[in-house]
Amino acid sequence: MKFLVTFFSVFVFGLLQFAAADSSNFTLECYAPGTALFDGHIYIGDDKKIYIANVTETAKGIVLSNGSLEMDDGKVIGIGKNYLSLEADSSSFEIAYPFTIEKGILKLYGEDFHAVPSGKDGIYVLGSINAAAGRDDVIPIQIKAIGDDDTAVSDYKGDSVESTSSYSLLGSQTFDSSAASSASAATASEVSSSKSSSKNAAVANFSYSHGCFFSLLIAMIV
Ligand SMILES: *[C@@H]1O[C@H](CO)[C@@H](O)[C@H](O)[C@H]1NC(C)=O
Ligand SMILES: *[C@@H]1O[C@H](CO)[C@@H](O)[C@H](O)[C@H]1NC(C)=O
Ligand SMILES: *[C@@H]1O[C@H](CO)[C@@H](O)[C@H](O)[C@H]1NC(C)=O
Ligand SMILES: *[C@@H]1O[C@H](CO)[C@@H](O)[C@H](O)[C@H]1NC(C)=O
Repeated sequence: MKFLVTFFSVFVFGLLQFAAADSSNFTLECYAPGTALFDGHIYIGDDKKIYIANVTETAKGIVLSNGSLEMDDGKVIGIGKNYLSLEADSSSFEIAYPFTIEKGILKLYGEDFHAVPSGKDGIYVLGSINAAAGRDDVIPIQIKAIGDDDTAVSDYKGDSVESTSSYSLLGSQTFDSSAASSASAATASEVSSSKSSSKNAAVANFSYSHGCFFSLLIAMIV
């Protein structure tokens, strides 16, 4: 009986771990006290760029486990020339990541954001910390991640956003064993595939150890 319960709880908590893979839903709330944007709200413009102005609209999003920020319309935020957008607007456009939530504040690359004048009165474009860096009309802002209950959502870091040191350690182990049989040395693709498989190993290990912890807990209660 105890074994069955333990087995079952490992299974259930394993599932929960997967279900809880993304962050909770949140509203992106501009926080820039003492600046022209103290009353500002973040919203998605008709051109799919992200703007900040004194409007009533708001924008909702969710941080995915791969570190992308998905907005309410199902599109993932990208970045081109340091400006955030839901549609490609330049050849340098790429998916923006990693987004994280630290102490209730949304971060990109672990940093806050820049609001840059759009050219229209009172309307600012949202960029990364690198946007228009050094210009004196830039307003540094923080973005609060506010859940449906009006309080900050829990801190969140996607699966792929972990310490690089543990990766390289695992990565070299995986690489050694797989490379042993093949004479060809480190091609770029081999290195990257061994890296991604070690990522998966680390993730599996993480959920497994959590599952074990919880099942032990339940086994003790039962
Ligand atoms: C987030 O909210 C949107 C719409 O409000 C909803 O469609 C989506 O399922 C929600 N996602 C989660 C993980 O709750
Ligand atoms: C923002 O808009 C509200 C309502 O339109 C207005 O009362 C408030 O003064 C505005 N704030 C700024 C900084 O313009
Ligand atoms: C994360 O996953 C989403 C949905 O599958 C995808 O659109 C996005 O490009 C991914 N982000 C990265 C950085 O790979
Ligand atoms: C898996 O987790 C355990 C304990 O949490 C740890 O001792 C072990 O080194 C981890 N293994 C890998 C491959 O990360």
